[in-house]
Amino acid sequence: MKILIEKDYEAMSARAARIVAERIRRKPDLVLGLATGSTPIGMYRHWIGMVQAGDLSFTDVTTFNLDEYVGLAGDHPQSFRTFMHEQLFRQIDVKPERTHIPDGVAPDLAAECAEYNRLIEEAGGIDVQILGIGKNGHIGFNEPGEDFGKLTHVVRLSENTRRANSRFFPRLEDVPTHAITMGLKSIMNARQIVLLAAGTDKCDAVQRALYGDVTEDLPASVLQLHPNCVVVLDEAAASKLPADGNNGKWEMEK
Ligand code: F6R
Repeated sequence: MKILIEKDYEAMSARAARIVAERIRRKPDLVLGLATGSTPIGMYRHWIGMVQAGDLSFTDVTTFNLDEYVGLAGDHPQSFRTFMHEQLFRQIDVKPERTHIPDGVAPDLAAECAEYNRLIEEAGGIDVQILGIGKNGHIGFNEPGEDFGKLTHVVRLSENTRRANSRFFPRLEDVPTHAITMGLKSIMNARQIVLLAAGTDKCDAVQRALYGDVTEDLPASVLQLHPNCVVVLDEAAASKLPADGNNGKWEMEK
């Protein structure tokens, strides 16, 4: 694991954007795992700027998002499909048919999960997976207690997560109770992981994920077992980490 610490959110976003853009330039048909939430928006803005400047192209890139709410159709204003369309897809040259997000209104959710796994496999697996982290250490919608061994599946959202995400909805009651998410095994199957975190809100989860026990109680701790994981933080999210990377437990660059 490699930890990169940047001054603030903007510098963290720029650094992460450059790392992934470099991967796309080297492999234009990259299979890219994407996340929603506030954290990656700055990185997405950088990619949009690069595409508009002619420095980057997503035409041959295939994308798979981590998750989608159950019960929200793709065109629902609060669906993750709408979020991705607004924040990224409509502003870059990605081919719509190459973008994948689970269908939250599929009549058979188990079949939808199986099909999502099949599509990822058919694409050759995920080359680079972008992740954010919840204050409770969730990644994707894999909440504390989640089995490390699962691929895409349906989860019940914790009340904490529903409350955290209610900022995107008119009222708390409007936040769905369930979601489809790639599982921790799907995430660990990615060849490279780029985890982003910013702000003091995340410093405890980041500290426990990188330096605590590897435990299902803190889903992101599984990333300690990944052979190629880059963690890009701002100083606030890194504020509880040992200054020396814990005597070389992890490579750390400030
Ligand atoms: C998003 C996702 C979540 C978020 C996490 C952090 O697709 O799966 O795990 O990455 O909740 O969210 P923000 O970035 O809003 O703090």
